[in-house]
Amino acid sequence: MLKKILLCAIVCLTVLAVPPAEAATRLLKPEPVTLTYYGQSAFLLTCGETKLLLDPYLNSSPWKAARAEEIDCQYILVSHGHQDHLGDTVAIAKRTEAKVVTFSALEQKKKEQGCDVAPMDIGGKRAFDFGYVKVTPAVHGSGVPGGAAVGFIVNFYGKTIYFAGDTALFGDMAFVAKAKVDYALLPIGGNYTMDADDAADAVELIKPKAVIPMHYNTNPLIQASPEAFKKLVEKRYGIPVSVMQPGGVMVL
Ligand code: NI
Ligand code: MN
Repeated sequence: MLKKILLCAIVCLTVLAVPPAEAATRLLKPEPVTLTYYGQSAFLLTCGETKLLLDPYLNSSPWKAARAEEIDCQYILVSHGHQDHLGDTVAIAKRTEAKVVTFSALEQKKKEQGCDVAPMDIGGKRAFDFGYVKVTPAVHGSGVPGGAAVGFIVNFYGKTIYFAGDTALFGDMAFVAKAKVDYALLPIGGNYTMDADDAADAVELIKPKAVIPMHYNTNPLIQASPEAFKKLVEKRYGIPVSVMQPGGVMVL
């Protein structure tokens, strides 16, 4: 009996002794952060009940990894107006009342279509419940008159993700390194964006902890080998590359 009381006392004291900082961290990260890939540049970040979609090209995507009707989210980030990125944004945003984070030129169009829009533009940073979004430049067509294509640095429950969108390799990607990126999501398909060689050079500028290739093998013009890209980056920089299958999920 005495042993039991002693044990109980020790357990109680241990619980009480957790410093407030640690307790706060637990509150901040109640669940693991997961990343789901749907092919092309469509991803879903989740942490507990919070879900954030990136470039949700789903129902018309040849990957058929998910249907727009099954997706539930509170946030949608759209990098530019091309259909393989804008995808099912409007339908999902209207049904779920998700906030659509996009750049100013696309904002008006989405508002007219009945979406709740959080307009942002290049260089802008904004705090959200999950962390923050910072809009980066992307060298690519915008898909809307007077617009620009962008990328996003997303801090999601402490994980920092650089989603490059559709872009060429450009030197100012070096500034993204200042955000201390955990995962860089980079296009490797070529033709409309960087190819695998340029994406490997981008890794050198961004200095992420890990890399995930995207925007390849969706159509004949953007054929690339993610395995060759993985070998190249891992051999050259020792930075791990995770090749995700459409429909695949990983814990960040
Ligand atoms: Ni595009
Ligand atoms: Mn594209």
